[in-house]
Amino acid sequence: MTGAEEHPLPAEVLAAVREARRILVLTGAGMSAESGIATFRDAQTGLWEEFDPMRLATPEAWAEDPAFVWAWYAWRMHLVRAVEPNAGHRAIAELGRLREVSIATQNVDDLHERAGSSVAAHVHGSIFDLRCSDCGAPFVGEPELPEEPVERLDPPTCPECGGDVRPGVVWFGEMLPEDAVAATEAALEALEPGDVCLVVGTSGLVFPAAGYPAMARSEGATVIEVNPVETEISDMCHHVVRGSAAQVLPRIVAALG
Ligand code: OAD
Repeated sequence: MTGAEEHPLPAEVLAAVREARRILVLTGAGMSAESGIATFRDAQTGLWEEFDPMRLATPEAWAEDPAFVWAWYAWRMHLVRAVEPNAGHRAIAELGRLREVSIATQNVDDLHERAGSSVAAHVHGSIFDLRCSDCGAPFVGEPELPEEPVERLDPPTCPECGGDVRPGVVWFGEMLPEDAVAATEAALEALEPGDVCLVVGTSGLVFPAAGYPAMARSEGATVIEVNPVETEISDMCHHVVRGSAAQVLPRIVAALG
């Protein structure tokens, strides 16, 4: 993709980031796309092309067929372990050394952390935070992960109660983790006029996360979207940069130096 060259960074974007005291970074699946983790909705590569998410990412699917759901998440865990943070993750980590940065991500991977960032909120949970689906006890063991996608795999068994162990992700219809919501709200409330909210690689379709950019705007922050295509939130952003995370973010951060 040559998006970054075709769409030079607007001077207003660089000025806004340069002058911001605080920066709230909101990231979605597009943030990890260039690491090799497929997004949810992108044509061809989107996981939703191959699977019906309602068969995977719901408590009902888990209740009906835990081995089917676990197999998919175990494969995702394997994939996340196998890939590396990309230049976009690294740029955000660098930004955190230059400015006061809070990150709230919808991603359940740990690529921000592995790039050196501390993440304020995983609003859809973390794939590696395993817990018992019956008693809720955290599962600390290392689950066996498949080297190839498999259709069914028995989940680990909870040593406390014998229940099935599940990934710590938020499924459709479930509440977001309270600590993640509180941390995101605190980061939003800390924004002041002149601060910046960078929205990277999210389709802006899944609430409540999809409402955070508008909340940042109402706090007075300048909202900047980084995404190769138009999204549900493009219209409400002050600036949009049409390029990929790994191309655009390093250029924004380099301009601060
Ligand atoms: P989506 O898969 O819905 O959207 C990915 C977005 O990333 C799209 O807008 C793409 O245009 C953009 N994108 C793709 N490649 C990119 C790149 N290299 N750089 C920047 N942007 C890129 O992902 P999310 O919006 O994160 O929730 O999806 C939200 C939630 O839907 C997920 O967290 C998941 C799913 O249901 C749960 O599992 C609860």
